Amino acid sequence: MIEANISADELAALQLERLQWTLRHAYANVPAYTRKFDEAGVHPDDCKELADLAKFPFTTKQDLRENYPFGMFAVPQAQVRRIHASSGTTGKATVVGYTEQDIDTWATVMARSIHAAGGRPGHKVHVAYGYGLFTGGLGAHYGAEKLGCTVIPASGGMTARQVQLITDFRPEVIMVTPSYMLTLLDEFERQGVDPRASSLKVGIFGAEPWTEQMRAEIEERFALDAVDIYGLSEVMGPGVAQECVETKDGLHIWEDHFYPEVIDPYSEEVLGGGETGELVFTSLTKQALPIIRYRTRDLTELNPGTARPAFRRMAKVTGRTDDLIILRGVNVFPTQIEEIVLRTPALSPHFQLVRSTRGRLDHLTVRVEARHDASGDDRSRAASELVTGVKDGVGVTVSVEVVDPDTLERSMGKMRRIVDQRDKP
Ligand code: DLL
Repeated sequence: MIEANISADELAALQLERLQWTLRHAYANVPAYTRKFDEAGVHPDDCKELADLAKFPFTTKQDLRENYPFGMFAVPQAQVRRIHASSGTTGKATVVGYTEQDIDTWATVMARSIHAAGGRPGHKVHVAYGYGLFTGGLGAHYGAEKLGCTVIPASGGMTARQVQLITDFRPEVIMVTPSYMLTLLDEFERQGVDPRASSLKVGIFGAEPWTEQMRAEIEERFALDAVDIYGLSEVMGPGVAQECVETKDGLHIWEDHFYPEVIDPYSEEVLGGGETGELVFTSLTKQALPIIRYRTRDLTELNPGTARPAFRRMAKVTGRTDDLIILRGVNVFPTQIEEIVLRTPALSPHFQLVRSTRGRLDHLTVRVEARHDASGDDRSRAASELVTGVKDGVGVTVSVEVVDPDTLERSMGKMRRIVDQRDKP
């Protein structure tokens, strides 16, 4: 069953049944959960309705690290068919596992996602998410196959060849990070190939935050529909939530498999619909790595479903608490800067945020490439517009360096926006 045609009542009943199973499964088979539940004085039998989930303790990346590599797995190793891991820029990698049924569930929600994005059986799908321990490539791959598409497993990198493959194989769908899509755009132009004339009709972009302004930029330059896909390894991989092409109004969460909550990250209270906070997920069907109230550190809000009325929608993720820059008391997310950069005509979407120390204070410099056709005057006007735009829109004073086109590092996968050059204490 790829599409879930389900009423709100049926969904709630299914969620409760699956939640009760998950809590029992985790408590019985993962010592870390047994200990956490016991310490919090809760037992799986205490979950009589969905709201009771709030009584259970949260799980964090730290729990997975402490139980590295396989300590959070709930099935014997012989039943684990696949392992993925996050790169772990700080500390140890986070390791996740899947049974055969988990891989099938993942393929199903991914197939549902590709379909909601506008992909159809018979379409060719160019997958430029990285293959390997990262969940992007293989997750997209299995979903596209399950939907009945022809997969082109390009993976990331070898950018010139990607453009050649797209030109020759004529895929309708591309799945890639939005920042790598911009790298591909440069390469189309370098090769003198018109991106608007390509076969691509739908782009399924995720794995990093991106803005409405970036959507407009990519849609215009490629003449395609750009939609958002969300997911994380600890909860499954890509395909936890997907934006529908007919509405492009946030991402429907496949709630028959992943139960969302939004909490206040400081008080840890569960927030109501429409309130922004940290997204928390509980898996409902996962066997190998059941995950209870996982704190994603991603900021969003939940709203009622539209194109898929049974499922709630999460707003585009504006940022992760990890990427938050606090500058003289003001919170700044890279997406806020992205919006303003893309509103400034002479500036390209390629920018970095450089943090440094001036005197004793933190300072932020937006280093951004000019567009190819921008004159010297355009550049200086753009620089002062950006300073004013950030001051008015975000409330902080930044420096702006407008640099030549094609001088900043390009993304091959997830983009690193922030360059930290601050003095170490
Ligand atoms: O990035 C899974 C994925 C692959 C999603 C391909 C979509 C497409 P991780 O490497 O575990 O998994 O990183 C998960 O990436 O907590 C978010 O901070 C961020 N992220 C993922 N999708 C989006 C999105 C994959 N659509 C972390 N918008 C998450 C904003 C996203 N951030």
